[in-house]
Amino acid sequence: MVMPPTAISQAPGFVGRPTRRVDGPLKVTGRAKYAAEYDAPGLAYGYIVSSAVAAGRVLAIEADAALQMPGVIRIFSHADRPATATADKAWQDEVAPPGHPFRPFGSDEIHFALQPIALVVAETYEAARDAASLVTARYEVTQHRVDLKRERATAYDPPEKRAGIPPPPAPRGDFAQAYADAPVKISADYVLAPEYHNPMEMFGTTVVRNDDGKLLVFDKTQGSQNVKAYLAGVFGLPEGDIRVVNAYVGGAFGTALRPNMSAVLAVMASLALERSVRVTLTREQMFALGYRPHMEQTVSLACGRDGKLLAVHHDAVSGTSPFEDYQEAVVNWSGMLYACANTKLSYALAKLNTNTPCDMRAPGATSGVYALEAAMDELAHAAGIDPLELRIRNFSERDGNTDKPYSSKALMLCYREGAARFGWSRRQLAPRSMREGNELVGFGMATGVWEAMVVPVTAKAILSADGALEVSTASSDIGTGTYTILAQIAADAFGLPLERVTVRIGDSALSAHPVEGGSWTAASAGASVSLACAKLKEQALARARRMTNSPLAQAAMEEVAFTDGRIALAGDAGRGVSLADVLRASDLGHLEEEASFTPDEKLAGRYASYSHAAVFAEVRVDEELGVLRVPRLVSAVAGGKILNPKTARSQILGGVVMGLGMALHEEGLFDHDLGRLMNHNYAEYHVPVNADIGDIDVLFVDEHEDKLGHLGVKGLGEIGIVGTAAAVANAIFHATGKRVRDLPITLDKLL
Ligand code: MOS
Repeated sequence: MVMPPTAISQAPGFVGRPTRRVDGPLKVTGRAKYAAEYDAPGLAYGYIVSSAVAAGRVLAIEADAALQMPGVIRIFSHADRPATATADKAWQDEVAPPGHPFRPFGSDEIHFALQPIALVVAETYEAARDAASLVTARYEVTQHRVDLKRERATAYDPPEKRAGIPPPPAPRGDFAQAYADAPVKISADYVLAPEYHNPMEMFGTTVVRNDDGKLLVFDKTQGSQNVKAYLAGVFGLPEGDIRVVNAYVGGAFGTALRPNMSAVLAVMASLALERSVRVTLTREQMFALGYRPHMEQTVSLACGRDGKLLAVHHDAVSGTSPFEDYQEAVVNWSGMLYACANTKLSYALAKLNTNTPCDMRAPGATSGVYALEAAMDELAHAAGIDPLELRIRNFSERDGNTDKPYSSKALMLCYREGAARFGWSRRQLAPRSMREGNELVGFGMATGVWEAMVVPVTAKAILSADGALEVSTASSDIGTGTYTILAQIAADAFGLPLERVTVRIGDSALSAHPVEGGSWTAASAGASVSLACAKLKEQALARARRMTNSPLAQAAMEEVAFTDGRIALAGDAGRGVSLADVLRASDLGHLEEEASFTPDEKLAGRYASYSHAAVFAEVRVDEELGVLRVPRLVSAVAGGKILNPKTARSQILGGVVMGLGMALHEEGLFDHDLGRLMNHNYAEYHVPVNADIGDIDVLFVDEHEDKLGHLGVKGLGEIGIVGTAAAVANAIFHATGKRVRDLPITLDKLL
């Protein structure tokens, strides 16, 4: 794909420019180390044995044969494990939903297939894996529940709400009456298959035990401090005895927000054996972790002949585990996005024998906005109105649920510029009316929306005697480009080349940072680094003023420029001092400042903040063979100020590809007799590959944001996926006249 021309600031510096990843060379040369790549003297290896049944109880673990195998050290299970915390609270990490968190080997109970039932620890990985194949279990099997369609009747309103997830708002107006009276209406059910996280790097934890008994834990996680606090709580250790490092993370998308079983089991074994231990998950075992839940949704919409919405109803039932009430904001979007006086929204959970679902790229929005935007397409068709025109006629300047104005909302620009780039005006209104050769051609579009959040983050900036700058915070880079944007911000603050800046993240020992998620990192970690740099500049200037015969004795911050390791009067570069001289004069080896960014709660209370997108897709369907292609797609995004058009575009590309996977490929398939997932591998759980991807054109529209922090940035990690599946599904309807509401849209559903 060709890099499209991007409007970038011509101002000197790196912010706003398509800067290459600073960690790129380390990654492509293999010098960037991942959690399972660290070595330690005397390292032992753990291999997990998984449950073969979906519900019941382990009667006995038969491990004698495995224990006889050469190299086997010990086999842990519910029957033989060190003590762990008894209170749920200790197991509840920073982002845990309400309920009783899963405890590996916590009891003999089996809640889901592939639940870990034993850990074989051996001198080598191969010995552990080999011995694990000899471990068997006897079970008492009880009736499992994995069919959401059937369990929908048992759905309940979760009694305790998940922190940060707004429950559906109360009804507005009178939906039933408005719907009954309306001249144009649709109502439909949308079913989403569960989707599984498949980041390239599988979960792994290497616990290095130091001579003093302290643990250095290399873990795949989106939050080193979250994992550290969790492990300390679970094992009753002083927090000072554990340090968690996640310097590089090979993709995560939400699956590494909560601490995972490899971390618990590796620490358990390390403490019991007083050795360093590594536990890695297999690709199959990755399917035993959190996932995007099964979802059944009903959307009913009504409008006038003019297309103005008169009534909106959105109901969703989502799967959760037997032990936790995992919740997302699924239906709220339908009351927020478009102007409508009569709305009724509801959301319920049904328990399934699976692990607890977890956040997966734009959790809730990806599922809920799919249903809303597919329904909007159905309504446009029923009203005989162009689908884009329908969205424009229902555009809202206020959040319909809270009646707050938006801090910024350049969605109209996304519609206009996206439509122009795509050539939407060439679309014929009627389905099955565009054709080229053997192929039916369809144009579809959808709106995307995701929260724009900021969180408190603390960062440190250190200037060393040689003029090099280091900035740090316990953030993570899950492939999103955190290292790069923080380097850009810091380099610009001091007018330094990128090579003079070192970014340290991925270590619980650094300044406070919550889990890296929710698309909040760029805005929040970026702001804290920017504040730490500003504070450090103040200190440097104050010291420069005090130097003997200082040319800057009277200079205020606005009157000086920091460039190439010097502070000088702006416009008179000769009158200044080098930072190295400032340090020497102060008799210090380095200058250091720490600063915290805190979201402005007052502003947050007054404005609604979201990122937006308009997605346009072209599909082509071979009428005889049913072969479906998506040759091109345009995603026009309003995400505030763009720090780095190159990494920003990559985030949207990744989100769009994941959205294509949702539309056409991804689905966890259960064997309903056994309660087991049937396709827990890369061969049968389909994700898009290169040949599935056509031209993806990403454009960022101009959006001025000034309520979310001084950088004006909204996150971009998630907005790319929202709306993509609906745009594709809507294009398929336009091409074929066939409405497939259950994702993924596989060939069998089209023929
Ligand atoms: Mo994101 S689903 O918060 O990693």
